[in-house]
Amino acid sequence: MKIRLTINGELREADVWAGESLLAALRDTLELPGSKNACEQGECGSCSVLLDGDLVCACLVMAAQADGHEVTTVEGLRGDDGLHRVQQAFVEAGAVQCGFCTPGLVVATAALLERNPSPSDDVIREQLSGNLCRCTGYAKIFDAVRLAAART
Ligand code: FES
Ligand code: FES
Repeated sequence: MKIRLTINGELREADVWAGESLLAALRDTLELPGSKNACEQGECGSCSVLLDGDLVCACLVMAAQADGHEVTTVEGLRGDDGLHRVQQAFVEAGAVQCGFCTPGLVVATAALLERNPSPSDDVIREQLSGNLCRCTGYAKIFDAVRLAAART
């Protein structure tokens, strides 16, 4: 089946099968591999994207459900003038090790700061609890979120 959706501000079409996830369509058909596939069960957040502005796990959304909607992936956060401030903060804070969790955390952090420009540590912990990282111990990730918030 054909779907048409706006991805990162661009109208795109894709041919997908009925049971195909949005994550698979993004990575395999639409050539946007930034969203990572780690668990495919909604457990790790590595596939986090925005669907009409709401944070979702792309592995739990059918590609067909995104037909006619707006999707923002980690690739879409970058502006004409460079990295998104959350991306830049992750780099500067050293919050990236293997990097597998990073795209999802960056998207989730951008969504958080959009709603709450100055979140407390408790709010950060709560809001990013769906994004798992096996490498960093989370301290540097918190540093990155605080740094990005300070630049809001
Ligand atoms: S791959 Fe989607 S939540 Fe883990
Ligand atoms: S940096 Fe490796 S899983 Fe987070």
